[in-house]
Amino acid sequence: MKSDNLIEIYRPISDDLKSVDQCLLDVVAGALDPFPREIGAFRGAGKRLRPAMALLVYRMASEQTPPRRVLEQAAALELMHIATLIHDDVVDGSYQRRGHQTLHRLFTDKTAVLVGDYLYATAIDMFNRFGTHHSVNVVTRTTIGMAHGELMQVLLTPESRSRREIYLDIISKKTADFFAAAAEVGAEAAEVEGPRREEFRRFGWNFGMAFQIIDDVLDFTASPDNLGKPVFQDLVDGKVTLPALILLEAGAQEFLMSVLSERKLTQEARAALSDLLASHDVIPRALREADQFLADARDVLNSLRTTESAPAFQSLLSLCDYIIQQKSLPQLSLT
Ligand code: IPE
Ligand code: IPE
Ligand code: MG
Ligand code: MG
Repeated sequence: MKSDNLIEIYRPISDDLKSVDQCLLDVVAGALDPFPREIGAFRGAGKRLRPAMALLVYRMASEQTPPRRVLEQAAALELMHIATLIHDDVVDGSYQRRGHQTLHRLFTDKTAVLVGDYLYATAIDMFNRFGTHHSVNVVTRTTIGMAHGELMQVLLTPESRSRREIYLDIISKKTADFFAAAAEVGAEAAEVEGPRREEFRRFGWNFGMAFQIIDDVLDFTASPDNLGKPVFQDLVDGKVTLPALILLEAGAQEFLMSVLSERKLTQEARAALSDLLASHDVIPRALREADQFLADARDVLNSLRTTESAPAFQSLLSLCDYIIQQKSLPQLSLT
């Protein structure tokens, strides 16, 4: 859901994002009938962060209006993201996404898996047609990692998923590497090469690490209305995210292990969870960890700056502030 802040941040690329949305519409329109038109629920909503990352990096690096090949690649990134969301909602059994019923709820798991496959394959085809050999490589390797990250969440035992380094590895694979890829695709399209392209990638990765930690915090603090997806889902799904890890480290093993194994959260358990979160200062501590990644992201971005006033550079900086200042997060004094 795009907030007013995001509209402002996206100002340098607002026309580009309109073209991206048109590309997405074309993909759905070009699909076999009766393709589920409810996929339309995915068209207007969503923050469009991954295409925005690629387009802002492109504009920061080239200071030019992106040609069609860049817009198509930005759209392909969003398509890949939508495909992973459709599959993720089947895996997580989620009933709501972007404020609408999920596709597998509206139809069946079978339809959702196949629509996800279709969108993903279409995205790869778009990279093949509009990207370079390097960008095709980047996105395909990223997808392998994303599937690996999601599999780790499903296959590893609760004990190994309760280790911090495993959590960080999972979020790096399933989310941060995708933002890294989006930044790298933008830089590559602007003909940035070598260590400088790597640095853009590093910016995207740090942003992505922070982004997933914040998403994991929002699962504990937000309401479905302003998030557009269910909350308190992760624990019930058996996912040990950073807030849960902090609680474990603070000694709440017994409580957490019982929620994780029973896979349900009664009203009573919810109240106990809120007390534990508050007494161990869990949410501010998790957000401070996210802010460390954002501090690194800002440092990298500053080192890449060429023209101080470049609007795309300012937007990327503001995007770092935006993700940690979203509604439903406590306001902290951060870096
Ligand atoms: C949701 O991503 C999946 C995660 C990686 C946490 P977004 O929060 O970017 O989802 P949309 O695109 O805005 O719906
Ligand atoms: C991100 O993890 C999923 C993907 C990378 C596809 P989550 O499972 O936390 O995402 P949400 O919370 O369902 O959006
Ligand atoms: Mg999910
Ligand atoms: Mg989540």
